[in-house]
Parts: sequence; C-alpha cells; structure tokens
Amino acid sequence: MTANGGWWGRRYGTTPADDAPGAPEAAELPSNDVIELLYRHRSVRRFVAGEVDDAALTAIIGAAQSASTSSNLQAWSVIEVRDPDRLAALSHLAGEQEFIRRGSVFLVFVADWARAGELARRAGEPDDATSYLESTLVAFVDAALAGQNAVVAAESLGLGAVYVGSVRNNPEQIADLLELPAGAFPVFGVVLGHPDPDDPAGVKPRLPQSVVRHRERYRLPDDDDIAAYEAAVTAYYRTQGDDRGWLASAIARVRDAASLHGRHTMRDSLTRRGLPSR
Ligand SMILES: Cc1cc2nc3c(=O)[nH]c(=O)nc-3n(C[C@H](O)[C@H](O)[C@H](O)COP(=O)(O)O)c2cc1C
Repeated sequence: MTANGGWWGRRYGTTPADDAPGAPEAAELPSNDVIELLYRHRSVRRFVAGEVDDAALTAIIGAAQSASTSSNLQAWSVIEVRDPDRLAALSHLAGEQEFIRRGSVFLVFVADWARAGELARRAGEPDDATSYLESTLVAFVDAALAGQNAVVAAESLGLGAVYVGSVRNNPEQIADLLELPAGAFPVFGVVLGHPDPDDPAGVKPRLPQSVVRHRERYRLPDDDDIAAYEAAVTAYYRTQGDDRGWLASAIARVRDAASLHGRHTMRDSLTRRGLPSR
C-alpha cells in the first residue's frame, strides 16, 4: 500500500512538492505499517468504557523499556494509576484536565535518579553527579523516549493516548501523591483508553518539513513557510469547530514567564525534589 499517498496529505495538508519543488510525490515515498501508524497519530481525549488490561499494559511498558536509554542507565520510572479517587486528585493537580479521569489508566513518567542514587549509597559510594543539570536532562530524555514508545505501542493496539505535560503544573504535590523519593520527578503523564469512535479529533498538520529539516546548515523559516502552515492548521481547526491558528499561540507561549502558567519555578521544584540541576 502506498500509504504515504494518503497519510502525507493529512499530516501536512500539502504535498511534498508544495513544500520543496522537485520533491518526490507522496505516493513514491517508502511506507509500511509502522510509518503509517506514526503518520496516523492523533491525541485522544475522549474515551469510551473499557479496560486497558494488565496484559496490554505489560506489553506497552515492555515497548517503553525497549527504547534506547542513555548509557543503559534506564533513569526513568512509570507510575500506573487506576484508582478513581487518585485519578480525580491527579486530574485536579494537573490543570483540571477532566479526561485524566475518563481514560482507563494514567501513566506518570518519572525522571528517576532515586534508584541509581540509592544503589550507589548501598555500595557506600556518593551520587553527586545526579545533582547536575546534565543528569536531569538525561533522565528527562530517557523518560520521553520511553513515553513515546509506550504511546506508539498503545496506538498499534488500537488504543488512544494523550500526553499530559500539566503534571508539571504542580510537580511537588504530584510527587507527594505518588510517594516519589528524592531524585524522582514527574515529567509528563499519558492517559490511555479506548477511543470514542465519535471523537472528531483528527490528524493535526505539522510544520512543513522545510521548516524543521535543515540541509547542512540551520535556516530560519520565511514568513511564507509559516503562512502556508497557518493555512493548513486553521483549515484543520475549522473541521473541529475551532477558529484557532498556530502562530498566535506560539507567540503567546514564548512571551514571558506568565506564559508558562506557573511552571517558571521549575528549577526550584527540581531542587526541592532532590534534582538541583546545577
Ligand atoms: C510533552 C507533552 C505534553 C502535553 N501535554 C498536554 C496536556 O497537558 N494537555 C493536553 O490536552 N494535551 C497535551 N499534549 C498534547 C499536545 O497538545 C498534542 O500532542 C499537540 O497539540 C499535537 O496534536 P496531536 O498529538 O493530536 O498531533 C502534550 C503533548 C506532549 C508531547
């Protein structure tokens, strides 16, 4: 199947040649089930009843653990939450995002130097290196790679998923609720569940490849590249009954500390949770 013929158009709202003259037709691009699954991704925030059972979750976590991990340190953990009261508490702490209660399971991915630090202490060794920013970055990257593998695996099983970055709105309270030890920090959550077939949410267009893909040297985008994307995203949002665009929200997001909705104090939170990131 020349899946890219169809999926490219939905992912970008354009053809490859619109973006880069002379580019191959979408239907000429190599494709397979994995690539098609990735192109088909959409965040799912509406779920119907149905468990993500332990067998499915065990397979999904195995996929997460199959991701590459810096120096094989595996500096991440995941907390699985199913209890309705705890889901309600997490939903409240993570920006009142209601869909956290509606999924079958909420996975909180954690940057985790607590485990290696404890093993060092048991061996009578220091764990000073965990206090550096580099170590924080390593654990956050590890958690992100694991989370994305989990999402792709879940989607391959026909499940729906959405990330929840707003666990970092109140990271310290969430760390307490999950009983995270010092050195372990919530990075993001992932809601998993059975997608509502009536959910209109579709494949959201991405920036043209010419904007994110640089040949040999970095090049900032032309206004025309961004205008083309704005048109594609606006057309997508219109199908959702929404008159949003992309540029205004990107500009609002970089404006000032207030744009971070309380997360501008992240270094203080990291420090209090044992990851001073110096
Ligand atoms: C790290 C991360 C955190 C996110 N946090 C949230 C969130 O708190 N709430 C939400 O509704 N969506 C969240 N999302 C989903 C993004 O809004 C979504 O991926 C993006 O708009 C692109 O849409 P798509 O996933 O449907 O392609 C998050 C995504 C990522 C990668």
